Amino acid sequence: MVPSFARGLSAVFNTGMPNVRIVDRDQEIFAPPGEPVLFAMWEARVNIMSVCGGNCSCGTCNVEVVEGHEHLDPPHEGEQYVLARIKRQGPNVRLSCQLMPRGDIAIRIRPEA
Ligand code: FES
Repeated sequence: MVPSFARGLSAVFNTGMPNVRIVDRDQEIFAPPGEPVLFAMWEARVNIMSVCGGNCSCGTCNVEVVEGHEHLDPPHEGEQYVLARIKRQGPNVRLSCQLMPRGDIAIRIRPEA
């Protein structure tokens, strides 16, 4: 577990952890291995909606991945189902609660429709 005071410092220090650049917030955080990007954003106090608390059911945590697709696993069946239900399909739209990057990525937090 990374202490919360250390989060959000990846732009300053080399943490060895994947960076998540949030392009529409001009903010950069890091994602500890095995931890979803949504949780890393919460720890860094990034304001993002999440109705189900990261349980891959509400779809409100959807983001657009703008860089670093190669560092992500493809969406699993449950994520695909939720994205289809909320009509946010597309190769770049993902649920941040299901993203566990292996390398640096950039995302855009999508406004709720
Ligand atoms: S937080 Fe509900 S689907 Fe991600």
